Amino acid sequence: MPEIAFVNDAFMPLSEARVSVEDRGFQFGDGVYELLRIYAGVPFHLTEHLGRLEQSARAIGIPLPYTQDRWAAVIAEAVSRSGFPEAKVYIQVTRGVAPRDHVPTGSMTPTVVVTVRAIVPLPSALYAGGADVATVPDIRWARCNIKSVGLLANVLAKQQARDAGAVEALFVRAGHVLEGATSNVLIVRGQCLVTPPEGPLLLSGVTRRVVLGLAQEAGVAVKERPVTEEELYASEEVMLTGTTIEVLPVARVNGRPIGEGAPGPVTRLVMARFHAARG
Ligand code: PDD
Repeated sequence: MPEIAFVNDAFMPLSEARVSVEDRGFQFGDGVYELLRIYAGVPFHLTEHLGRLEQSARAIGIPLPYTQDRWAAVIAEAVSRSGFPEAKVYIQVTRGVAPRDHVPTGSMTPTVVVTVRAIVPLPSALYAGGADVATVPDIRWARCNIKSVGLLANVLAKQQARDAGAVEALFVRAGHVLEGATSNVLIVRGQCLVTPPEGPLLLSGVTRRVVLGLAQEAGVAVKERPVTEEELYASEEVMLTGTTIEVLPVARVNGRPIGEGAPGPVTRLVMARFHAARG
């Protein structure tokens, strides 16, 4: 089954997809992206992902070239051409192609890339036993709610975590835990599900929002408020949410066990609800 790309209005095998070296995404990281999941051939929370793409693009002044209907049609066709019923869809929109100059001058046509690839899940042992995560100083810029393709700090953080034997890095800024390099973080304190509030210092995760809703439906109290690093260690449970990892229990932070060092009851409840919701 082929991995598919859609580049500037044309479908092709991913291996044949090309963009210009003068693309501002390549030159400056001047673009935004989305990643969404296909479960049994159907996009998961497509409207939310497209809404966030719109917000990210608007925040940096890139006019999105397609309507929501057009995006949905492109994604549906790319998924159908790939034949993958379980897949990840990556969307990237950059400001366009121009001779390298920091100031974006003249009228540019945004570059649109969509790719569809098979999903490779994390080992099931991580979901059964919980994952190791490592904290890292948050060296990112102050607009982390924009899903920018400029991900160098996330790349370095993830590498640092891997080197420490952890699967995810948690960004800590001024003593507060904000989110993971590719996930949001939620803790359980006094049976309440707590997560840092939305704002410029973290991405408004689609999975985070879905999980908060599912927890509430299941009768779990939910609070969005700042979380300190100290509080993280003292939590009863810690979990991560994200499009690729879904709901991942955390067993240890920097080698220190969280709760019993295994997935706790609230995490297991949320995981079960999430699996039921995604179909
Ligand atoms: N990233 N925070 C950051 C910094 C992220 O990069 C992501 C997802 C999330 C979770 O958001 P969502 O639930 O909407 O996927 C939070 C994707 C998976 C990526 O960069 O590949």
